[in-house]
Parts: sequence; C-alpha cells; structure tokens
Amino acid sequence: MRLTSISVTIALALQCTSVIGAVKPRRTSSILINPDAQPDLPTARQASTNAQAAGLNLDDIQGDILVGMNKNQELFFFFGIKDAATFKSKLASGIVPLITSTTQLLDVSKQPVTAVNIAFSQSGLTALGNKDNMVDSLFKQGQLKDAAALGDPGTGHWESAFAGTSIHGVFLIASDTQSNVDDELKNIQTILGSSITEIYRLQGAARPGAEKGHEHFGFMDGIGQPSVNGFSNALPGQATVNPGVILTGETGDNSASSRPAWTKSGSFLAFRQLQQKVPEFNKYLSDNTLAVPGLTQQENTDLLGARMVGRWKSGAPIDLAPLKDDPTLGADASRNNNFNFAHTDNPNFIQSTNQTLCPFAAHIRKSRPRSDFTPENLAIHIMRSGIPYGPEVTDGEAAAQKSDASNERGLAFVSYQSDISNGFAFIQKNWVNNPSFFPGHTPTPGVDPIIGSTNAGKAPGDAARSVNGLNPLSFSTPLVLNTDFVVSRGGEYFFSPPISALTNTLSK
Ligand code: HEM
Ligand SMILES: *[C@@H]1O[C@H](CO)[C@@H](O)[C@H](O)[C@H]1NC(C)=O
Repeated sequence: MRLTSISVTIALALQCTSVIGAVKPRRTSSILINPDAQPDLPTARQASTNAQAAGLNLDDIQGDILVGMNKNQELFFFFGIKDAATFKSKLASGIVPLITSTTQLLDVSKQPVTAVNIAFSQSGLTALGNKDNMVDSLFKQGQLKDAAALGDPGTGHWESAFAGTSIHGVFLIASDTQSNVDDELKNIQTILGSSITEIYRLQGAARPGAEKGHEHFGFMDGIGQPSVNGFSNALPGQATVNPGVILTGETGDNSASSRPAWTKSGSFLAFRQLQQKVPEFNKYLSDNTLAVPGLTQQENTDLLGARMVGRWKSGAPIDLAPLKDDPTLGADASRNNNFNFAHTDNPNFIQSTNQTLCPFAAHIRKSRPRSDFTPENLAIHIMRSGIPYGPEVTDGEAAAQKSDASNERGLAFVSYQSDISNGFAFIQKNWVNNPSFFPGHTPTPGVDPIIGSTNAGKAPGDAARSVNGLNPLSFSTPLVLNTDFVVSRGGEYFFSPPISALTNTLSK
C-alpha cells in the first residue's frame, strides 16, 4: 500500500471530524508491510467497487482473510473457554469493537493501532453451545486426527498444545510494533478475565531489514496469491478465483446452500506451526551443489535452492529466470507471476518431460500447477496469511550447520479457504505429498522438496524423500533428501466467522 501525502492529509482531516466514533487514535502509517515483490492490495475504493458488484460485504469479513501475508508483528494467542456465558457477553460488548474488518485494513486512516481477528475450532463452537453443521469434515474432526493423512510422522514433534482438543479459539493480534501487540493482548485478557484461559501462544514477526517479506530459508514469500473476484484486480499471471473459493457461503462455495446462514462471508483457517531447519537446509544445498557449466559453485548451490522452491530468493520465478536470480524481475509484481510452465512460444518445448526451466516437484508448481492443468484448476486455491516466527540464524548455528533446539524458527502458516478438504489439505495430501503428481509427467516428480512428506506413521525423519528433476543436467537422477528441512509442529483447524456472527449467533 503506497500512501501519498494527499491521502495522509485526508486521513488526518477525517480523524478530526471523527467519522467513525474512534475507540483508539487512528494511524497515519500502515500496520502492513508492502515489499515490491508482493501484489499490492486493492485501494479501499477499488475493493469497495468490486465488492458491490459481487455482493460482498467487506465490513463484515474479518481483515486477515483476503489481505494476506503482510503483517509486521503478529501474535497467535490460543485459548480455551472456561465460562461460556461470560465469554459470550464479553464477546459482544468488549471484543467485537476490537475486531478489524477488511475495509478497515485497506485504508490506513481506518486502521486501528492494533488489528484483531478471532477464529474458533469445532470444540470451541461446541463449548459455546453451537451445534450447527459447518459442512466441513476436517474442521469437524480437528487437525490432530488429520495428522497422519497430512503426512506428519505421528505427533511426536507436535507442540503439546495442538495434540489435544482443548484449543477453542485463537486471537490473531497484529500491529507494527511488539508493544502495541502486547498492549492489545492485555486489553483482551482484561475484558475476558477468567472466562478464557491461555493454552499456547506463538509470536510471529516479519524478518528484519532487507529480509522483510522473506521466509526463513531466505525466499520472498506472499507472491503467488489468487486474486479474489469481488475484492482485487488480478495482475498478470494471478489466478482469478470466485469469492466462494475462499469465503463460505459466497459464489463458488459448492456447499453454500447447506451451510448455516450465519457463516456467510466467513472462512476456514488452517493453522500449522512449521519449523524450518535453516542451517541444515543450507548445508544440504552446499553438500549437493549442482554442476551446471558456466556457473560458479555458489551460483550452483543457489540454483539448487531456487529449483526446490521454483523461485529465487528475490521472488523471480525460475520458469522465467532459469539460471541466475533476477532481482529486478523478482521485485516487479506485474511480471513475477506472469508465467505458467507451458512455453507455448517454443514449439520444441515438451511440458510433460522438459524440466530445464521449472522442476515438476518445485514447491510453487506442486502447490499451484498452473497450466499443467488445462484449463487451470480454479477451485483448489488458498489465501496464505502466515508470518515467520523465531529468531534469525545465529553465527554459531551457521558455523555448526545445525539448528540449535532453543532457537526454534519457522513459518506460522495460515491459509484461508471455504473448504479445508479443497484447500490446504488438498494441496498437502494430493499434490505436495504425492510423488506421482503431476500425472503424465515423466520421470515421476517425487514429493515437494520443501514441504512434501511421505512419513505418515513412521518415526520422525526416518523416510528419505526422493525428488526427481532438481538437477537440470539429468532430470531422472533423483536427489534423496535425508533431512526434514520443515518439521510439522502441528496445528489446528478454525473457522473465522463474519463479524456479524460474533454479535449475533455466537454471543447468544
Ligand atoms: C515452512 C513451510 C513453507 C515454506 C518455507 C514455504 C515457502 C514458500 C515460498 C518461498 C513460496 C514462493 C513465494 C510465493 O509465491 O508466495 C511459496 C509459495 C506457495 N506456497 Fe509455500 N511454503 C511453506 C508451506 C506451505 C504450505 C504448507 C502450503 C500449502 C499446503 C503452501 C502453499 C503455497 C502456495 C499455494 C504458494 C503459491 C504458489 C503460486 O501461486 O505460484 N506453502 N511458499
Ligand atoms: C528443454 O527446454 C529448453 C528451454 O526451451 C531447451 O533449451 C532444451 O533444449 C529442452 N530440452 C529438451 C531435451 O528438449
């Protein structure tokens, strides 16, 4: 979001006339970060025009759902409900005024000091006495029961808080500074008192300095997001999806007619705490460096990492920049998504066998196969809204090429979708973990080298993962990944209700 000085002036003017009975002083600088590589959010005006045409109510949709991965500081505060009656009355009177809508996040002058969203697990809805059928089988059973199907090697690495059913809900508390987040948490805890109990918290933060927007392995994140009809205008190469792919009860949600009316404009939130073993990842890359002629050893090492992800650290797609990073391309949101693995301009390029450009197993190709489907699949898409957590790699860890257990770092992964089985879980189970995906591609791709797992039911880390296509000089020589660079620490499935449901159904 690029603020002009004119809009700042307007913002200040509005503040004085206090159009929206402000609870808190309004902002003049955004809560959100905006690296050039990531698609800009629509302006409040664009979004409102689009929403009107599509019948979406952006004032009712919690702000985190459509806005994406661009917070500076974000706390995930997981709680249990101890006293449902008190919780409900405080929810309506004290918490709802703190909940940030999509409209508020898009306009700096309407942003609160700290943004707050809330979501409930199935056991949370049950604790509130709500017996409605949400029409999502994975939400209903919870993530713990889904662990094996997701490829997690048991729950031995799971954070104990997730290995139970006592998490009833989560507050997402985001701002530009840690102290704002801390203050808002205190405020929430004061309002809710002993009606809730803390179960677990995970503090996320954008990485510092030039790494802002990059995940811990060093790659720019938050680039490949779908453009949602009724919200944003697509940049070249962005998939345009119906609002109901992300929002329950909206056009494109196949279960819209059978869901409870109060869930319209909500979204299911899949949370995963994904630990990243950064020194081990870097060690693997340098131990297995490629040997492409004309590149230095470091360039060959970097190339292997880029081929695992499908993008360079800058965000430049290897499908367009196959040998070296191109930071100008990476930073250009109008070009860095404009590819589809097909290369129809080259009649000799055979998409199902040629991995000179992007390997079939690359993380971005496994998780969005673009033109591998003709036409592109527009039903299986998620809005990613996660944030890195944990400290930067220390000099000691880098030297030892080994993560220190006391410095856990990773991705607080969040995805929104109208149906978990067609969103996060579909991508993880049917595409990422499936060595034969994409079918018809030869040689067989193998699993996604970043997050793919075939470890279900096995002891942690004991199944070496085989990936073809990473070596551009020999597509069929598999690389065997003997370290889990990403370790699932578990998570939970939640529902992020429309704000109206917090005042009505859920507090009644
Ligand atoms: C620690 C774990 C993960 C890391 C380090 C990671 C990293 C990345 C990076 C660097 C990108 C490229 C930048 C971008 O397009 O935004 C990306 C894209 C993506 N990731 Fe992940 N990711 C992780 C987990 C996941 C999970 C669990 C899923 C879903 C099951 C997922 C789904 C996607 C999707 C859908 C894209 C966009 C693909 C596209 O539109 O081209 N990621 N990820
Ligand atoms: C694969 O595609 C690249 C880029 O178009 C081309 O240079 C190469 O010759 C192709 N390889 C094969 C085996 O056709």
